[in-house]
Parts: sequence; structure tokens; C-alpha cells
Amino acid sequence: MCDQLPDGQATLHSLDVPPDQPTSQVFRLILLRNGAQVSAFVNRCPHFGVPLANRQEQLLQKPLISLSCNVHYARFRWSDGLCESGDCKGESLIPVPLDINGGGLVCIGQSS
Ligand code: FES
Repeated sequence: MCDQLPDGQATLHSLDVPPDQPTSQVFRLILLRNGAQVSAFVNRCPHFGVPLANRQEQLLQKPLISLSCNVHYARFRWSDGLCESGDCKGESLIPVPLDINGGGLVCIGQSS
């Protein structure tokens, strides 16, 4: 639910996978909330393909401004995930399309 996300913060989330799937296949994403707006990026740095952070307390962020990878500290714009400084400057985080229904439920994908 949108209102369960901390406003003005980026938070790490993992999607549930069936128990027969290896844990390495967990889909990790970063949800960013700004009021009623929620956006998401895949939790994967374009530099080495590793997560920006493995745990919430490791997620480096300037709320509403930027996210940084905690490996080599590339900095990404909050608004669109573009890397503004660091080893992957000019590359971007992968956006995840979201749909927030009337009840505030955040769903991956876009409604038609
Ligand atoms: S792995 Fe993220 S900046 Fe190098």
C-alpha cells in the first residue's frame, strides 16, 4: 500500500517468489515515495550489476534528490535514475512501471 511507504524516502523491497525458486532469483526493487507519487527502480547498479544496497540501512539516499550505490558510490537522480556522477555516469537505473489503484495499492505494471 502506498501509505505504508515512508514519505520522501526510498525503501528496498523484494518480491515473494515460489519456495522452489532459488533465493538468488528474488526480484529486488527500490520504491521511492513523494506524497501520492511512487516510482521504482530495479535494485541493480549499472556499473557492476550488483545491488545498490543489500539492506535498508545500507541504502544511501538524499531524500527526493538522489540515491547512491554503496559499492563505488555512483550517484543517481531520484527523479529518473540517471547516473550523474561515478563510474557509470550517463547510464541509468532500470525503471519499474507501477500502477497505483484507487485504494492506494501499488502494483507492478501499467494498467491498460
Ligand atoms: S558497483 Fe555501483 S558504482 Fe560500482
